[in-house]
Amino acid sequence: MSRFSEPQHPVFRQLNASIGFDWRLGPYDVDLSRAHARMLAQQGIVAPEDRDELLAALDTVEHELEQGTFPFQPDDEDVHMAIERRVTELAGPVGGKLHTARSRNDQVATDMALFTRAHAQAAMEGIRGLMRALVAAAERHLDWRMPGYTHLQRAQPVYLSHHLLAYVWMLARDLERFAAVERATARLPLGAGALAGVNFDTDRAAVARDLGFAGVAENSIDAVSNRDFVLDYLAAAATCGTHLSRLGAEIVLWSSSEFGFAEVSDAWASGSSIMPQKKNPDAAELLRAKAPRIAGHFVALQGVMHALPLTYNKDMQEDKEHLFDAVDTLELCLAAATGMIEGIAFDRERMAAAASDEFPAATDIADLLVRRGMPFRECHGVVAALVKRAVDSGRTLTELRPEELAEHSELLDEEYYRVLAGESWLESKDSEGGTSLRRVREQLERARALLG
Ligand code: ARG
Repeated sequence: MSRFSEPQHPVFRQLNASIGFDWRLGPYDVDLSRAHARMLAQQGIVAPEDRDELLAALDTVEHELEQGTFPFQPDDEDVHMAIERRVTELAGPVGGKLHTARSRNDQVATDMALFTRAHAQAAMEGIRGLMRALVAAAERHLDWRMPGYTHLQRAQPVYLSHHLLAYVWMLARDLERFAAVERATARLPLGAGALAGVNFDTDRAAVARDLGFAGVAENSIDAVSNRDFVLDYLAAAATCGTHLSRLGAEIVLWSSSEFGFAEVSDAWASGSSIMPQKKNPDAAELLRAKAPRIAGHFVALQGVMHALPLTYNKDMQEDKEHLFDAVDTLELCLAAATGMIEGIAFDRERMAAAASDEFPAATDIADLLVRRGMPFRECHGVVAALVKRAVDSGRTLTELRPEELAEHSELLDEEYYRVLAGESWLESKDSEGGTSLRRVREQLERARALLG
């Protein structure tokens, strides 16, 4: 029996159905249903024999899902209805008892929390893998010199290890963000029913323990309305994707003939169909391009959720494709970035040559003047004038003569030429967090400790 007198319009059905994507929640829905069935029996709401029949049917469903033999039907609106239908086919009328004291509203919120938790953990695993690859690359290139940039202009030389470790700390913050996502999934929605609670003496704490939740959601209205944890995942993934895009962008630049700093391994590059000499860093380009896609999912779901009256609204079905695509994109990008970094080769000579350009040492000349008592702002002006003089006359800073230096400041003597000889540029950056080898080694220590 149904209160409806005409069948659903096929276009409505297409709009309304989520089975085309929410089948991915299948394994979580089975776990949830098992925990629910056990609790129902423990509380005397269903008989132990009913529970056993339900659990046996759920085992079959799990197996069918794993094998790809689960018989989806055209009428299945979503994964929850498909699984309940199948349980009833397998167990007979007792299958209908599975939905006692629950609603699809608390069910879908719980499945989504389980899915989000699992993939926050997967993201953390992927991030740790990439951090390990970067730490290993930093160890291999500990004292390789390269230019550090601001505005993509050579600014001050650094060690390649220092530059690579910058990404490690960005990723360490991503780890913290995903740990917070995991915490945001820690309260069990199930037991909230449709929105107001249920008419049975359930034991929500037992279900929470069974499914690995730290506790139960305090308010049934909030429990079925809440998708904060999905937004939190998307926000964390968007920031992590942005980090990967900056890594990708640098590798694209470094792989160009203009830079010539790096070459990705053949396994991570493609050729051109008409230009045989080309080796394109496609993986790095795609890392660069994927970030806005993830950020777009975050913005889209904020749009879905904003101004939405409590509690469940069908709008919320839209959480899934945004989350699923973000999960797939991020996990793929993390795996690709890791493989690419493991196989990348750097060109020591090219990097060193670019780093020995002496204009970046201008700051060191300014610091020399500071050590001799001149206020930094004044030094900046003196050095800017020296740079202008050199550039205007087509010379390097070293090529300026002592009497020319004297015109700018009587504090400039032989030491000026020693500073420009370059040996001290990197090692003098010995402040905490700086690029000197001693400080980079400290960083490496800490990064390794973080990765355990
Ligand atoms: N497929 C739905 C979703 O993903 C499940 C919840 C349906 N609840 C409802 N009251 N219609 O949001």
